Amino acid sequence: MELREWAIHILSADRIEDKLFDPSHLEDKNPGSPIFWKEPTRPIGMSFSKHTRKNDKLPPFQDHHKSDNRAICLHRFAGHELLAVEIMAFALLAFPDAPRSFRMGVANTLKEEQIHVKLYIAQMERLGLKFGDLPLFKHFWKQTEYLTSPINYISMMSLTLEMANLDFAPHYGASFKRNGDLESYELMKQILSDEISHVKFGMRWIQKLKAHDQDAFELYKESITPHLTLKRGRGFIFQEEPRKKAGIPDKWIEALKNS
Ligand SMILES: [Fe+2]
Ligand SMILES: [Fe+2]
Repeated sequence: MELREWAIHILSADRIEDKLFDPSHLEDKNPGSPIFWKEPTRPIGMSFSKHTRKNDKLPPFQDHHKSDNRAICLHRFAGHELLAVEIMAFALLAFPDAPRSFRMGVANTLKEEQIHVKLYIAQMERLGLKFGDLPLFKHFWKQTEYLTSPINYISMMSLTLEMANLDFAPHYGASFKRNGDLESYELMKQILSDEISHVKFGMRWIQKLKAHDQDAFELYKESITPHLTLKRGRGFIFQEEPRKKAGIPDKWIEALKNS
């Protein structure tokens, strides 16, 4: 299947199975001309809800002993993963002229995000919740009008949103473990490990795409979308080690830590 065809299939899917469709063979012979997809089709019951102060709040960590509350967290994270799947499909359509290896890298990351959605669905169902039972938000789709180049895309996705998960995944994982939910803990461990490689992908490509005399960190700060700031690339408890593993330069880590 062509990357372009696959991306269109994902963005126009009205069944979760089609959003998570994973073709056995992918190729990129006909990337076509750029398409800037406006908004994804969503399965029934999974359309975007408006944020309110009430529906936006995740249960506090001290309430994670209740499985219902852990399920709410997993539902939210699954929502983020589904958004990541769609934004990666957006990028495949928007940047047909990007290097072939960049596009195949985005496709491979997209496949891992699909697996993440499936794993979160399995865990939330174990805890008695179905994907779509709670509101899902538009989040990342508010940024797509600013995603006009592969550099913008990696700055937003890999180097900000996925970067923040290097803190959130171990933080939530540790809390699930403390509350005896080892399956959810194992899942967060896998998410962290995959996320390190997704951030690494972004780091590698910003180095490749920048001009020879350009500084990657400066370019990143210029390229994040107006709704994002450096601070969005971290959680409450800052983790240095996964960032080092992802190849983030010391100067960048320091600036994030102090943001
Ligand atoms: Fe993910
Ligand atoms: Fe990711």
